[in-house]
Amino acid sequence: MSAQVFVAKECAPGELRVAATPETIKRLVKDGLTVVVQAGAGAGANIADKAFEDAGASIAQDAQQQKAAWQSADMVLKVSPLQKNDALGADEATLLKPGAIVISHVWPHKQLELVKTLAERKVSCLAMDLLPRISRAQVMDSLSSQANIAGYKAVVLAASRLGKYFPLLMTAAGTIQPSRVVIMGAGVAGLQAIATARRLGALVEVSDIRPAVKEQVESLGAKFIELPMQESGEGQGGYAKEVSKEFLAKQQEVLKARIAQADVVITTAQVPGRPAPRLVTEDMVKAMRAGSIIVDIAADSGGNCELTENNKEVVKHGVLIMGYSNLPNTMPEDASNLYARNVYALIKLVNDKGALKLNLEDEIIAGALLTNDGAVRHQATADALKAKAG
Ligand code: NAI
Repeated sequence: MSAQVFVAKECAPGELRVAATPETIKRLVKDGLTVVVQAGAGAGANIADKAFEDAGASIAQDAQQQKAAWQSADMVLKVSPLQKNDALGADEATLLKPGAIVISHVWPHKQLELVKTLAERKVSCLAMDLLPRISRAQVMDSLSSQANIAGYKAVVLAASRLGKYFPLLMTAAGTIQPSRVVIMGAGVAGLQAIATARRLGALVEVSDIRPAVKEQVESLGAKFIELPMQESGEGQGGYAKEVSKEFLAKQQEVLKARIAQADVVITTAQVPGRPAPRLVTEDMVKAMRAGSIIVDIAADSGGNCELTENNKEVVKHGVLIMGYSNLPNTMPEDASNLYARNVYALIKLVNDKGALKLNLEDEIIAGALLTNDGAVRHQATADALKAKAG
């Protein structure tokens, strides 16, 4: 019998993305799986139920069919973590049968109750945000696919709100100087922000604490802001590590002069598992010119700018500060296309001719598997749960 995959409709407020598309459903069906899609699951991404049906899925139409689909599913696909679902009058995690597999983002440090429930219900949860950042997992790396969108959209948003051109323009009425953009953090989002701002013709300067990114920044036509590097910001697995207070103070000093000249500042600096580093203080905002813009992609983890308010636009000292934490959701069609492909690539590792098998020896499965067979396998989350229980 072929395993049943259920594509749930997102119920987090404002979430428009969907975890499967007609393209990936066609492939799942071809790979021997049965797919059920909740009615309206693709509406936010402009995918009609009919398109899912044409791809080979059946549609769970009413609340009764949808509840049944949750309960009988061998695998559930979502974008955001399972949560209380008002339309079904239940917590999604409590609907699943033991042994069912969930694939979604989880952010387990913020979702300890959910993790506990998943473990108690013997659900196997593959957390997209725990996938190891290794070459073989790049095709499934949703942190990258979504961060790419965030970097692009941050620049487009800034350009659409700035009272100036981005490019150098020579017109009959005289020359327009190009805008100056400072980008902090040259990870996936930052590199895409650099590329996008350069395509629009801005002058781009970039700060990061991992020396390895200097070359990438320069190859995109941007200038790397040199920092007094007494310590390396390179942590494990290509990520940054948290720098000392003294280093941060020096970095702020260097950045203050660059930011004072900037028309747009895009901040994307993050350190996994830690609050985002404070790179832009109120004093630095005061030194910016009226009408300039900060887009803070790190808003959700506390913000790189001291004055950022999560999911809000605020004007402080004449500077517009945008703190949108879910920019990928503002481009739900491509965000869903890419996320669905990431998820499909992960399912391929689990699907054995229509039967689902978790190979715990596989580095990718072992890394992403948050809960399995009653246990919390992710050590940091297991420790946090223990500490919470006292
Ligand atoms: P991230 O979202 O954790 O951080 C964004 C950037 O902020 C990083 O470049 C980091 O160095 C920088 N940062 C941290 N503290 C800072 C500070 N005080 N000042 C300035 N910048 C600061 O990173 P992301 O985008 O998730 O990826 C980071 C790296 O991970 C990539 O550049 C790559 O090396 C690696 N990676 C590997 C993948 C794979 O092989 N599958 C996929 C994606 C990323």
